[in-house]
Parts: sequence; C-alpha cells; structure tokens
Amino acid sequence: MKYVVVGGAGFIGSNLVDNLIYEGHEVSIIDNFSTGKKDNVNSNANIFELDMSDISNKQKIISIMENTDTVFLLAAKARVQPSIKNPIEYEMNNTIGVLNILKCAADAKVRRVVYSASSSAYGDSEVMPLVESMPVNPLSPYGAQKYYGEVMCNVFSHIYNIQTVCLRYFNVYGERQNLDGAYALVIGIFASQLLSGKPMTIRGDGEQRRDFTYVGDVVNANILASKSKNVGNGEVINIGNGDNRSINQIADMLGDNKIYVDPVIEPNETLADNSLAKKLLGWEPKQVIEDWIPGYKKDIGL
Ligand SMILES: NC(=O)c1ccc[n+]([C@@H]2O[C@H](COP(=O)([O-])OP(=O)(O)OC[C@H]3O[C@@H](n4cnc5c(N)ncnc54)[C@H](O)[C@@H]3O)[C@@H](O)[C@H]2O)c1
Repeated sequence: MKYVVVGGAGFIGSNLVDNLIYEGHEVSIIDNFSTGKKDNVNSNANIFELDMSDISNKQKIISIMENTDTVFLLAAKARVQPSIKNPIEYEMNNTIGVLNILKCAADAKVRRVVYSASSSAYGDSEVMPLVESMPVNPLSPYGAQKYYGEVMCNVFSHIYNIQTVCLRYFNVYGERQNLDGAYALVIGIFASQLLSGKPMTIRGDGEQRRDFTYVGDVVNANILASKSKNVGNGEVINIGNGDNRSINQIADMLGDNKIYVDPVIEPNETLADNSLAKKLLGWEPKQVIEDWIPGYKKDIGL
C-alpha cells in the first residue's frame, strides 16, 4: 500500500513512518524541516522537502499523492505558547497548509486523510473527562487553528468525496520528542534542563494535570484510523491515555532539582474520555508513563 505522511520528519510523524515501512508499505514524506529533523527520517522513505502552506507547490504535492491510500496529515507548527507570540505565522502554516493538503488529496483521489488534531481545542474545561461532544473553547491561536482543521476535514468529507477522520491527541511523549527550543514538550524540557545541570522550571504550582499519551499508542491510533470501516466522515476522536499526572509528578519521575516560575495561560487539566476511540477504532493505550521514564532516563544519560 502507498502512504503519504505530511510532517513525517517530526516527532510523531517519524515514528509513524517507521511503523508503516516496517509493515512493508511504500511511504513518501512531505516536510519542510522547520522543526523536523533529517536524522529522524527512515532511509527507506521517499523524501520531498516542501512547504505544505505554499500553494504554488500544489501540482507537485498532487503528483506525490497519486495512487495513495491514506495521507496522514501531521505537519503543523505544533506548540501552544509560540503560537501566542506569532499568531499570524502560525495561522498561515496551520490553516492554509491544512486546506492545501486536503485539496491536493481530494484532487489526487486519495481514499482517506487522517488528520492530527489536538486536545487544545477543548481549552480550559471544568468538566472532566473531556468528551468529543463537549463544546470547543480553544485558548490559543494554535488551539483554534487545530480546530479549524477538524472543521475543514468535515467539509471535505461531505463535499469533495474524500474520507477524513480527526484524531485529537493529548500530551504525546516518547522516542524522538524534542529536547530543545520553543517546540520542546514538558518531559523533553525537563530532561534537557537536568542534562545541563539546571533545575526543572515548573510554571505556576505544578499541579496542572495532563493526560500523557505514548507516541507508539498514537501511531497505532493512526494506523487503525486509516483502516477502520467505522470512520471516514470527519469524525473527531480523542486519542488520550484516559488518566493524567500533575507536572510535579512528572518532574519527580525525572529528578529532584526544580524551581517554580510564573504561570502561563494554559488549561488546569486535561483528561481524555477515550471510549469513542475504543468503539470506532478498537484502540486502547498500552504504555504506562511510569514504566517508560526509567528506560528513557538511561537512554539519554540522566
Ligand atoms: N506532540 C503533542 O503532544 C501533540 C498533541 C496534540 C496534537 N499534536 C499534533 O500532532 C502533529 C505532530 O506533532 P509533533 O509533536 O510530531 O510535532 P513536530 O514539530 O515534531 O512535527 C511536525 C512536523 O511538521 C513539519 N512541518 C511543519 N510545518 C510544515 C509545513 N508548512 N510544510 C511541511 N512540513 C511542515 C515539521 O518540520 C515537523 O517535521 C501536529 O499536527 C500537532 O499539532 C501533537
């Protein structure tokens, strides 16, 4: 089977590419390497260094997508806080880019697009767990843009005759997570700080809770979403572990050197109701974070 992974050089995308190639498929990657790394990319994949938000790349992208079963759309400027600083740059990338990929996929007669959505669409809810039927309330440009992608997937499945499904990931961790820069995620940031002898910086009181979800489980959700006969009409499905940990708990798993800094605008808690993923995709998370952290610390020399 032929697959295209847009954002295949990134953290989650590169893990997905490895899995698809391991299963014996032909895989093409579209990535502009803005945060993705050449080192992440499987040497058996076809690599196309292209910006998905540049609409002048349309014909090239369509030709890459010809005879493709599923396009996995993971590319995005993928973090909340930098989107608050650079909302317009984020907008161009995360909305025009998504629209361009959806239109190219429809024109190339791709069977299905699996879109990487985000739990940030929920914003700060008082009610837990978060269920797909709840109203959205994004609190950042990034959250709003990721939600727009879901809306567009729904539109495309209804008027352009292409199947779509949207996976709302919760906080993803695992192999190849970024350690540096504005795009790093909390475990990567803490690891990087400890490796350079600095304390882990905890925003606010550290009692914010996140539903940490393993990248291998997210990859599995993508593959099931590509194959499932129960989806294809723009369904929105939570992909979260279904339990959560505080930032203090995560810090304690990694080390004991920490300081507390000013809070930022962020939800107090995320927690997925993942029953729809079980029902529609047959998906269940397998990894427990406490079992993963010791091996990670050993691997990075902590
Ligand atoms: N990591 C998480 O916890 C998390 C949570 C919710 C949703 N998501 C979503 O999952 C997806 C993947 O996230 P990630 O953590 O792997 O991020 P990442 O930054 O590691 O990967 C994104 C990839 O997309 C590429 N890219 C960005 N803009 C592009 C463009 N205009 N054209 C071509 N390529 C482009 C980057 O170079 C990178 O390789 C994103 O859509 C993100 O919004 C991630």
